[in-house]
Amino acid sequence: MNEQDVREREEQLSYLERCRTLFAQLYEGTPQTACVVTFGCQMNARDSEKLIGVLRTVGYTITESEDADFVLYNTCSVRDNANQRLYGRLGTCGGYRKNRPGMRIGLCGCMAQEEVVRKKLGDSYPFVTLLFGTHNLYKFPEYLYRLLSGEKRVEEIWNDTPNIVEGLPTERKYRFKSGVNIMFGCNNFCTYCIVPYVRGREKSREAADILEEIRALAADGVTEVMLLGQNVNSYGLGLEGAPSFAQLLEQVSEVEGIRRIRFMTSHPKDLSEDLIRVLRDNEKVCKHLHLPLQSGSSHILKAMNRRYSKEKYLELALRIREEVPDLAMTTDIMVGFPGETAADVDDTLDVIRKVEFDNAFTFIYSKRPGTPASCFPNQPDEAYVKEQFARVLDLVQETSKKRAALLEGQVAEALVEEVNPSDASLVTGRLSNNMIVHFPGEASLVGSYQTVTLKECKGFYYLGERHA
Ligand code: SAH
Ligand code: SF4
Ligand code: F3S
Repeated sequence: MNEQDVREREEQLSYLERCRTLFAQLYEGTPQTACVVTFGCQMNARDSEKLIGVLRTVGYTITESEDADFVLYNTCSVRDNANQRLYGRLGTCGGYRKNRPGMRIGLCGCMAQEEVVRKKLGDSYPFVTLLFGTHNLYKFPEYLYRLLSGEKRVEEIWNDTPNIVEGLPTERKYRFKSGVNIMFGCNNFCTYCIVPYVRGREKSREAADILEEIRALAADGVTEVMLLGQNVNSYGLGLEGAPSFAQLLEQVSEVEGIRRIRFMTSHPKDLSEDLIRVLRDNEKVCKHLHLPLQSGSSHILKAMNRRYSKEKYLELALRIREEVPDLAMTTDIMVGFPGETAADVDDTLDVIRKVEFDNAFTFIYSKRPGTPASCFPNQPDEAYVKEQFARVLDLVQETSKKRAALLEGQVAEALVEEVNPSDASLVTGRLSNNMIVHFPGEASLVGSYQTVTLKECKGFYYLGERHA
């Protein structure tokens, strides 16, 4: 962090202290509950850990229920249904308010960056009295202080910021694993995507800051980190003397106590030879690569501004398969982009058949306000989309089942993440390749690494047995 970032952090830490004092005076020991509801990607999940860290430090009791004294929605706007879901939740929450006179409701994250959303909130959900965006999340202590001091409504949205302010308290969901932001924003402007507009331009954190955070996490019991960015392969852009992403992975792997490193997301256009080598040779780097395809049709990819062709993607993916055979490759696929035809979807199916993704997230194209594709002609009709989506989904499920079955009988190391929520005699672990395995075990195993035989493939997960 530069000097200004450090000053900003100090200022927020001082607001945090003032919040604590004020909170204690206001409520005099009467417990106050707070709930943070998270939508969207891993970055939002990490941001929510920061918001919860602040709320807990101030004195709130954190709950999962939105029937609480303070509710904060950390929102996603990547597809329209994410926005619609949020409005539904806000409606319900507005109902709780009737029985809770002092209740406060806030909204932050990607939707807050959208002007149309802010207008709708003002018109239809006036009970949302705290509104801030993605660039000024670190100022949450200040906004909370203003609310607690009696301001009726606090709203501050920035369009971008050069600052990267980290180091406020965070409360991790898991004690043994954590996301770590290595960069923010996106410069790629895929024509369908709202992320560059709501998250701003790409900015990388200094490697020294990233490593310091990871050392602190390791000292606090974290053994698995996930490095987060919209396009981790272009890490370091604009940072003088920064390591490449592959070098950063090597540096992270040297941090004592870290046993596993994951990362998300890789844009195919920037994936380097060095990264393939690190995936192959570095034992701490997990054998999982999420490599979003979006479409297998070169002319649709061009219209999407993805900057690779079907052939380039295939060449890259198959080379990685050959170099790192035990790696699981997952992807994102979109159906229904403007102008897409069944022949384009044939190309997508062809790529799925050839690469045999271990898993794929399939999405129906959603028109996002302000993006170039929202004005493209030939927006798809519903019947076409339904039919094509089913074709893609069927094949994706078939290939991922086939890939999963290949592991049957193998012995692998699993990090135990939790007691199985639907069967308390089982625990749930994750393999290096991101495959889930359930096996008999007790709560004391959570956070530990166990050697497991993958006995029975259940399609997308395994039932296993732990070696004593
Ligand atoms: N930065 C990542 C993607 C982040 S968004 C990358 O480039 O790979 C996660 C996924 O949401 C995308 O991969 C895409 O498949 C999907 N997505 C993004 N915008 C969308 C839209 N307008 N409609 C439907 N799906 C979308
Ligand atoms: Fe969106 Fe493309 Fe950036 Fe991913 S790379 S966040 S899809 S603009
Ligand atoms: Fe959604 Fe924002 Fe992430 S739009 S996918 S929460 S960057």
